[in-house]
Amino acid sequence: MSEFIEPVFDLIEKEKKRQREGLELIPSENYVSSNVLSAMGSILTNKYSEGYPSFTGLTEWDDDEIASKKLANHRYYGGQRNVDRIERLAIARACRLFHADHANVQPHSGAQANMAVYYAWCRPGDTILGMSLPAGGHLTHGAKVTLDAHIWKFVNYGVTAEGDIDYDELERKALENLPNLILIGYSAYMKIPDFKRIARIRDDVSRKAGHEVLLMADMAHVAGLIAGGVHPNPFDYGFNVVTTTTHKTLRGPRGGLILSKGHVASPLSKPDHTLKNIPVLIDRAVFPGTQGGPLDHIIAAKAVAFGEALQPSFRTYVKNIVDNAKILADDLKENGFILQGNGTANHLILVDIRASYGIDGKFFERALDKIGLTMNANVLPSDKSDAFRPSGIRLGTPAVTTRGLGIEEMHMIAKWMKDVALICQKAGDEDHLPEYSDELKSIRRDVKALALRFPIPGID
Ligand SMILES: Cc1ncc(COP(=O)(O)O)c(C=O)c1O
Repeated sequence: MSEFIEPVFDLIEKEKKRQREGLELIPSENYVSSNVLSAMGSILTNKYSEGYPSFTGLTEWDDDEIASKKLANHRYYGGQRNVDRIERLAIARACRLFHADHANVQPHSGAQANMAVYYAWCRPGDTILGMSLPAGGHLTHGAKVTLDAHIWKFVNYGVTAEGDIDYDELERKALENLPNLILIGYSAYMKIPDFKRIARIRDDVSRKAGHEVLLMADMAHVAGLIAGGVHPNPFDYGFNVVTTTTHKTLRGPRGGLILSKGHVASPLSKPDHTLKNIPVLIDRAVFPGTQGGPLDHIIAAKAVAFGEALQPSFRTYVKNIVDNAKILADDLKENGFILQGNGTANHLILVDIRASYGIDGKFFERALDKIGLTMNANVLPSDKSDAFRPSGIRLGTPAVTTRGLGIEEMHMIAKWMKDVALICQKAGDEDHLPEYSDELKSIRRDVKALALRFPIPGID
């Protein structure tokens, strides 16, 4: 290997070792199957295919049907025979998984998916109502540092002291500001949203404002749980659009996905600005609106992952994610940890580590890293500290559940977390942590021994 290549592959090998010998508890991460990995690393990365394969009523396999309907092919390049079919597969499978009328599988990431929906529906200066970042929302829901926040006016709602979405605040702000888009979605929220109530608020806003209001759910975190039937589907409550990443609980390649309900038609048509036309407005907003050529290798990997998620075994997998998260949450409470919302109803747990053990989230995150448990410091809704020294630590069970960990292992993780929290308490700060390196090393050995018992798909 040349000197240009070797250092990169060396680091990939080191990362493999890190993943194999530790336990991944960041709730937004997962391990993809070897088939997803192969599709991502395939020669499809050589292809350009700006545009869309075709636009309506597609079944997964039926090329004859496509030919008989003389479906237009809206690509700007030749040589599309195979990638067209792959993209159609991904679209059809995504629609089946989420009961959507339409899927755009081209967004390069969750942030791009959200941006495209805003661009599809909102004019510059329009109002979008979403959850605030400290309450658990995502950066793309209106954080000042984003391009989105420069284009659209974001109004945010928060959560109550009990950790529920503050539906009264949401309703009041919705009726005061008459937003064009109401968004429910989060990166650090562990309850099941009341989709029905939110849909009712949207209807009230629509009536009062005299215009249609788009109802959008950013389900990046819980998409796998929805696909596997252990979490309600926003489409069952009248939502127009669901966005998601494909790499979290959905266990696909890194990427974005936009699902919608409405009339599916050619992206070259010039549709009226109505909710009925949202699928076409979204296609136009993704390409050419906010992106260039799609990543065909990633779309192929999405098609594989969606196929995997349609299997009965995926339902068992997501049920196990939630079961593991509930067990881990109970164990953590028994070990003295105070949890935001007092537990979890999904895959994600947020610990108030400052209230529990008097240490900050970053210190705890770094100490846990030393024993091979990976999770991330996170602000809490009530946090007085900034994002660099927040009071929370966020963890979740999608990745460890893929690896096959269960009840016994959840007990062990909670116990190790307590042991490390006590060491941090004694050390006082990171500078004094080396004084406890023998204790940390001993726990590290136990974590590694456990991790090596559970192979990682795509690696082992
Ligand atoms: C709710 C939510 N939306 C959007 C995103 C953005 O996804 P990406 O990192 O792929 O841009 C995330 C990522 O963490 C998320 O949690």
